[in-house]
Amino acid sequence: MKKSHHRSFLTLLERTPRELRTIMDLAVRIDADPDGFRTPLAWKTVGLLFEKSSTRTRLSFEAGIRQLGGGSLFLGGDIQLARGETIEDTARVMSAYLDMLVIRTFGHDRIEAFSAAAAIPVINGLTDGHHPCQALSDFYFMEKVFGSLGGLRLTYVGDGNNMARSLAEGAALLGVHLTLASPPDYSLPETEVAGLDRIAKSAGGSVRTLSDPVEASRGANVLYTDVWTSMGQEAESAIREKAFRGYCIDRNLVGLADPEVIVMHCLPAYRGKEITAEVIDGPRSRVFEQAAARLPLQKAIMMFCMGREQ
Ligand code: CP
Ligand code: NVA
Repeated sequence: MKKSHHRSFLTLLERTPRELRTIMDLAVRIDADPDGFRTPLAWKTVGLLFEKSSTRTRLSFEAGIRQLGGGSLFLGGDIQLARGETIEDTARVMSAYLDMLVIRTFGHDRIEAFSAAAAIPVINGLTDGHHPCQALSDFYFMEKVFGSLGGLRLTYVGDGNNMARSLAEGAALLGVHLTLASPPDYSLPETEVAGLDRIAKSAGGSVRTLSDPVEASRGANVLYTDVWTSMGQEAESAIREKAFRGYCIDRNLVGLADPEVIVMHCLPAYRGKEITAEVIDGPRSRVFEQAAARLPLQKAIMMFCMGREQ
């Protein structure tokens, strides 16, 4: 079996700051001249194995693969994996047919098992633990808006979930000041945050958690939120709605932030829950440009994973 390794992209923390920089710089070049990048995936086939719903990730990868000259195969719930074939056997077989795989699944251990058994690069299109493509795309977008990530104050209000973790890992590696405001029982583990803060300090940033969204929002350059109930947690949604009351990005929180604050949300959004309609549809919101940024950034991730980043 070929093992011409290439690189996988499962979490941000497993990459170096220099590699993240390389990917973001490549995305800038792709965005400026998409037609100059029509062949990096010529004759390559990329599988998209999705065990959860998706609009943005699926479409931006499928369109990106096509625009880079490759072909994509969407693999939903009707492959033998869903009937009990092992992850390892599936990964070995897929490696013989495909050149790269994007996976969206539940436990992060599932994608790790896949990647360990696969002979091709595996890209994380979201697990319960991480959403690295979204987070790196978000930092790429913030840099585009503010010109630089240095000294940027990013406040995330909401659940200490996959999105929060990937933003925290990215902030640590890229030197951003991140404040996470979550209800006490829903924050990222303290030891994890302390470890990321140590990494952030050496890059000129910081990572901290607070439980008070008001304090966390003061002076922020970016206010960011995500759903209170992630995919797979639907049974907890009533209890979560109670716990997260007060963790809604509304006009009061926006008013405490920097006057030039931008509001971000990875989407899908639930107006009236984690963000008000007035804010997400208002003048400070950049959520649709944020979503658009995923196309060039993920093209850059795929080229990086295939060793084609030069
Ligand atoms: N933000 C994001 O990953 O959206 P999808 O779930 O639609 O892919
Ligand atoms: N935290 C959300 C992100 C969706 C893009 C989820 O996992 O459902």
